This record gives sequence, structure tokens and C-alpha cells, in this order.
Amino acid sequence: MAELLDRATAEEYASWFRALADPSRVQIVEYLARQGRPMSVGELVAAVGLAQSTVSQHLKILTEVRFVLVEPVGTARHYRINERCVACFPTAADVVMGRPSPPAGMSPHRAESQAFFGARAATWDTKYGDDLPAYAAAVGDAGMPTGGVVVDVGCGTGRALPALRAAVGPTGTIVGVDLTPEMLAVARERARDSRADLVLADAQQLPLADATVDAIFAAGLVMHLPDRDAGLRELARITRPGGRLVLFHPSGRAALAARKGYVLRPDDAMAEEPLRSAVEPAGWRLMTYDDPPHRFLAIATRAG
Ligand SMILES: C[S@@+](CC[C@H](N)C(=O)[O-])C[C@H]1O[C@@H](n2cnc3c(N)ncnc32)[C@H](O)[C@@H]1O
Repeated sequence: MAELLDRATAEEYASWFRALADPSRVQIVEYLARQGRPMSVGELVAAVGLAQSTVSQHLKILTEVRFVLVEPVGTARHYRINERCVACFPTAADVVMGRPSPPAGMSPHRAESQAFFGARAATWDTKYGDDLPAYAAAVGDAGMPTGGVVVDVGCGTGRALPALRAAVGPTGTIVGVDLTPEMLAVARERARDSRADLVLADAQQLPLADATVDAIFAAGLVMHLPDRDAGLRELARITRPGGRLVLFHPSGRAALAARKGYVLRPDDAMAEEPLRSAVEPAGWRLMTYDDPPHRFLAIATRAG
């Protein structure tokens, strides 16, 4: 018998459909998606012909499910379509209608991630190229073991690979893992120069044996895992006791939230206590937590 769509995915999709269960909101989303730029409430009021308070109420509902993102512009707020939803929503609609676009056996989350990052791979380095010194600094601070085996999980275009090679030295082993073929295609040149192997795989199902890795570097990955706890357990499985997990982002959480236009909640999954509560049952001990504006760096050690 065919398996039922899992409950977490069903709930997420239901929240998206609820947010669109109004013709004005459908019009606002369609207009923002077609315009493809941040717009003021005034512009949206003029386009849909409703009172400002009504448009603001609709925008509130759409931003809550993150169909629409808010950007502060001076003292005003501008609204833009969340490109990620543009990539994901058609997949959700297909899945609900029994026409899953992901290949058989692939979860909708995986297909959505691949669609989202696949569309961005070619321009990723142009857009975020200035961050490279931050990766080198983080790898330096993380104390990667000379001669060790290091896996960059969710390696993307391989921005951390040169710094990881410098850290482990000529005798170390580096593996870059990513779910998105287009990201790995861009990473190929850096991987060759850094003598790193690249593997197409899901962080939640790694093709690596138990306790074989000295350190994991994961930049911008954990928040994209559909089941963070299972992902942290899988990372622990491949890491030897005493090995380390380095979670990094080239912006602190507050700086990132301000840039992306969302409000940081105290129970945010990457806040120190929620993160500690997630990593410890998965087999890690959180040793370092650093979250200034210019970077996020958390380091955990494999217990046992
Ligand atoms: C925000 S990007 C960061 C890329 C890179 N680490 C960097 O800092 O430039 C997240 C990356 O994680 C990958 N990714 C998302 N979900 C994944 C999963 N379940 N397993 C492996 N990689 C995943 C995406 O394809 C993407 O390349």
C-alpha cells in the first residue's frame, strides 16, 4: 500500500494553503511574485484597491507563513515574495494532488531543497563572495585536527574547502557532501584545488561508516534539515568520540534576521539553549557558542 504523506509535511503544506485561502491574498502573492522586487504597502494598496489596514492584515498573515518577507527601508517596511516559496509551493501542490514531482522515494523536503539551491548555485559565489575571509577565520578558530578526516556537510560551492585544506595540512582528508548536484558542480574546481572529494548525499543519510570522522564543518546547513534532531544524530554517528562539530554562518543570528526582515524569537532553534538541548541528546556536548553580528560559530564535541 502507498505510504501516507508524513504528518509534519502535511501540517506545513496546510499552513501554506490556509494562508492562501483568500482571493485578495492570492492576488497579493501573485503580484509580488510577478514584480519580483520589494514593494511598499502603498504600492500594494494601489494595486489591489483595498484599504491600507486590510492590505496590512493580509500581509501579516502572509509573512507569518513566510510566503512574503519584510525588509526595513529606513523607517518604512517593504514586502517581497519569498523566492523559496516560489520554488517549493508548486511541489507542495503536486504532492497534494497525488502527482509528486520528486523522483520516487525522494522526500518532498529533499526535492524542495534541491530546487531551491539548484536555482541559486550558479550565482552563489558572486552573491556571497565577500564572505570567504570569514570562512577562513572560522575554520582557523575551530581547531581542525592536522592530518585528520574532515567532512564539510552541506558544502555548497565549496567555499570552506581551501581553508579546511590549510587547516588539516597535506596529510589530512577532506570530503564535501551536498544534496544539490548544481552546488557540487560549482564546487568541483575548488575541490580539485583543495584535494577534496565531493559526494552527493543527504546529511540525514550519510554514506560514511560509524566513528570514522574527526571533525564536521557545517555552514548554513542545520536550519535546512527537515528533521534537525535526526540530522544531528547522523552527524554524531559518523564522528569518533572526542571529534567535533562546527556549526557556522557568516552572519550572527540577529544580523541575519535584520537583513532578511524577520523577528528573532527567543526559542529560535539556533539560540544557545535550544541548540544545546538539541545537540546533547544527539550525542554532542556544546563547548563554544559565539553569535556576534559578523558570524555564528558553535562548536560541539562528540561525547562518549
Ligand atoms: C545555505 S547553503 C550553504 C552552503 C555552504 N556551506 C556555504 O556556506 O556556502 C546550504 C547548503 O546545504 C545543502 N543542503 C540542504 N539540505 C541538505 C541535506 N539534507 N543534506 C546535504 N546538504 C544539504 C544545500 O544544497 C546547500 O548547498
